[in-house]
Amino acid sequence: MRIDIITVVPELLKSPFEASIMQRSIAKGLVEVQFHNLRDYTDTKYKQVDDYQFGGGAGMVMQIEPIDKCISKLKSERDYDEVIYMTPDGETLDQGMANTLSLKGNIIILCGHYKGVDQRVRDHFITKEISIGDYVLSGGELGALILCDAVIRLIPGVLGNETSALTDSFQDGLLAPPIYTRPADYKGWKVPEILTSGNTPKVEEWREEQAYIRTKERRPDLLEE
Ligand code: ADE
Repeated sequence: MRIDIITVVPELLKSPFEASIMQRSIAKGLVEVQFHNLRDYTDTKYKQVDDYQFGGGAGMVMQIEPIDKCISKLKSERDYDEVIYMTPDGETLDQGMANTLSLKGNIIILCGHYKGVDQRVRDHFITKEISIGDYVLSGGELGALILCDAVIRLIPGVLGNETSALTDSFQDGLLAPPIYTRPADYKGWKVPEILTSGNTPKVEEWREEQAYIRTKERRPDLLEE
């Protein structure tokens, strides 16, 4: 998968791709990520990419021209499956959306800033608008990172143990069950006996039951779906 991220603050984005799973996905050649500074697509003196709103009102709006230039250049080089805009009024990111996106080849992610982008960008270039939750960030960059992390870990071969993404919370519509590691007894706080019994079918049964209980307690809305 190739991910092109368009931003006015590339320095916010780089380091998360230099560590852990996202770094490994790149090192394994499974993912390529390129950052594009929108200011490189403007000829104005101060590299300005925003302007006042028509009709008045507080807050600046990202202009269409630099965005058009950047997206059009990328599209002239390869085909893209999605051009995503990170915005609080987009569709809320969930595991199903991450699964779908992990199967795509090339995607562009446009990070909004200031009040957001000129509506014509959304009308003519964007194929999908994504929010990471009902709160407003200073820009789309942190949302883009969350999206990339959620998607990249699902790409086959990225996680060492293929089953570990399949047993994540939400993958089967339920939250994940409690997990434990050694020691089996810490200060008298014991691991549930079933987990050390070696009885795999019983362990599976216990996990399914616990996942259900946890989901019912914490996220009953998931069971209604
Ligand atoms: N940009 C600002 N707030 C955002 C949010 N909640 N999700 C995605 N992009 C955003």
